[in-house]
Amino acid sequence: MRISATCIALAAALAVLAGAGAARAQDGMAVVKHRQDTMKRMGEDLKTIHQYGQGKADQKKAVAAAADITTTLPKVPELFPKGTGTAEFPGKSGAKPAIWTEWDKFLGDEKNTAAKADGLLAQIKAGDKAAALSGPGKLWNNGCQGCHKSYRQKI
Ligand code: HEC
Repeated sequence: MRISATCIALAAALAVLAGAGAARAQDGMAVVKHRQDTMKRMGEDLKTIHQYGQGKADQKKAVAAAADITTTLPKVPELFPKGTGTAEFPGKSGAKPAIWTEWDKFLGDEKNTAAKADGLLAQIKAGDKAAALSGPGKLWNNGCQGCHKSYRQKI
C-alpha cells in the first residue's frame, strides 16, 4: 500500500513537471517566433527606406520605417531571454548560445547598430534621398550583420 501510494504521488508529481516543461517549451517557442517576426519587420523597414530613395515610397513611410528600427533595437535584449536559443530550439532558432555567455558584447552590437539607425532616421527626416538609397545597405552591413555574424546561425 505504502509503495503504491508513493508511486501514485510520484507519478502525479512527474505529470505536473512534464506539464510545466511543455508550457515552458511553448512559451520559449512563442519568444523565438516573436523575435524572428520582429527582426523580419526591421528587414522590411530597410526595404521601405530604400524604396523612398528610389522614389517608390513617400518620405512619411520611410520616416515611420526608420523610426520603427530605432525604437525596436533598444528592445532587442528583451527579445533574447535565456534558454531560447539553438540549444533549446534546434532547427527553430538561429540564436547562438554565445549570446548568453558574451552578453555584454551582444549588447555592444545592439548599441552600435542603434546609434547608426539614429543617424539614418535623422537623414530620412531631413529628406536626404541619397542617404535613403545607400543608408539601409550600410546599416545592414555595419550594424545588423555585425551582430548576426557573431550570434546568428542559419536555420
Ligand atoms: C544584437 C544582435 C542583433 C542585431 C543588432 C540585429 N539582429 Fe537580426 N538577428 C539576431 C539573431 C541572434 C537572430 C536569430 C534569431 C533566432 O532565430 O532566434 C536574428 C535574426 C534576424 C533575421 C531572421 C529572422 C527569421 O525569420 O529567422 C532577420 C531578417 C534579421 N535578424 C534582421 C535584422 C535587421 C534588419 C537588423 C538591423 C536593423 C538586425 N537584424 C539587427 C541578432 C541581431
